[in-house]
Amino acid sequence: MTTLPLPYRVTAVSAENADCVSLEVAPVGRALPDFSPGRFAMMYAFGVGEVPISVSAIPGGHRLVHTVRAIGAVTGALCRLRPGDVLGLRGPYGTGWDLGAAAGSDLLVVAGGIGLAPLRPVVRHVLDHTDGYGRLHVLIGTRTPEDLLYRGELEDWRRSSAQVEITVDRPGPGWRGSVGVVTTLLDRVESAPDRTTALVCGPEVMIRHTARALLARGLPAHRVQVSLERNMRCGTGHCGHCQLGPLLLCRDGPVVGYDRTGPLLAVREL
Ligand SMILES: Cc1cc2nc3c(=O)[nH]c(=O)nc-3n(C[C@H](O)[C@H](O)[C@H](O)COP(=O)(O)OP(=O)(O)OC[C@H]3O[C@@H](n4cnc5c(N)ncnc54)[C@H](O)[C@@H]3O)c2cc1C
Ligand code: FES
Repeated sequence: MTTLPLPYRVTAVSAENADCVSLEVAPVGRALPDFSPGRFAMMYAFGVGEVPISVSAIPGGHRLVHTVRAIGAVTGALCRLRPGDVLGLRGPYGTGWDLGAAAGSDLLVVAGGIGLAPLRPVVRHVLDHTDGYGRLHVLIGTRTPEDLLYRGELEDWRRSSAQVEITVDRPGPGWRGSVGVVTTLLDRVESAPDRTTALVCGPEVMIRHTARALLARGLPAHRVQVSLERNMRCGTGHCGHCQLGPLLLCRDGPVVGYDRTGPLLAVREL
């Protein structure tokens, strides 16, 4: 694994909504080792800086897709890249979603906002390997209907057997779907807690509320996998920037069971 960024060329750019862009990139020379769903890269916008970004699709042929929300200097620069531009990439880092532990069970994917990005490769993987899993439920919470990511793809997921439910914080004119927080969608899922694995990603407050609601429904904490964000610098477990209690989230996370993270997140609320 290299700790120096390798040059990757932007091969395609798609605007997902007003502030999120998906960048497909391919190695200019040597490629990074293979990524798996839930792992992340440190993406370097030359002359601006480096940030952790999850892989949002793994199309093959050493190409990778990352969905970036422009919130500051580095993510803003990444979102302005055009096809042909070059960025730096190192990784893959962190733990991925533990799909081995989920094998044979129903999968409940719960995403808030840009949290759908690291979960998209899981959905695609499960839909490509339906024999290995039970039913797939995807619950998505987003600010407004216009903020919904991967709009064109959600119908494909439904057609390929996934239950996809969406709720928004603020409905616009013409929205006939659900309004409210993502936990309100849990009542629509028919799945026995003892054969369900939940994968949750989104803002930390959403993760806490979702995990607690799942525990209240009888899911054991170790079957609730959450992906957590922290400020990261090295990505390799050396600088300590991403510490959460005894965990370094770049190395021990970002995906960790709620049995390990629940108590640590509760302490941060005090
Ligand atoms: C493991 C991991 C995976 C990630 N995957 C993705 C991804 O797939 N797509 C994506 O768009 N982002 C992802 N992020 C978040 C991304 O790394 C941050 O948005 C980025 O570091 C911000 O850098 P910046 O220089 O653009 O903004 P900064 O200038 O660093 O920040 C701008 C403002 O946003 C605030 N801020 C910074 N980071 C966050 C954050 N994570 N959440 C909310 N507010 C924040 C800052 O406090 C500041 O006010 C991930 C983070 C981690 C740790
Ligand atoms: S980012 Fe340096 S230890 Fe995690």
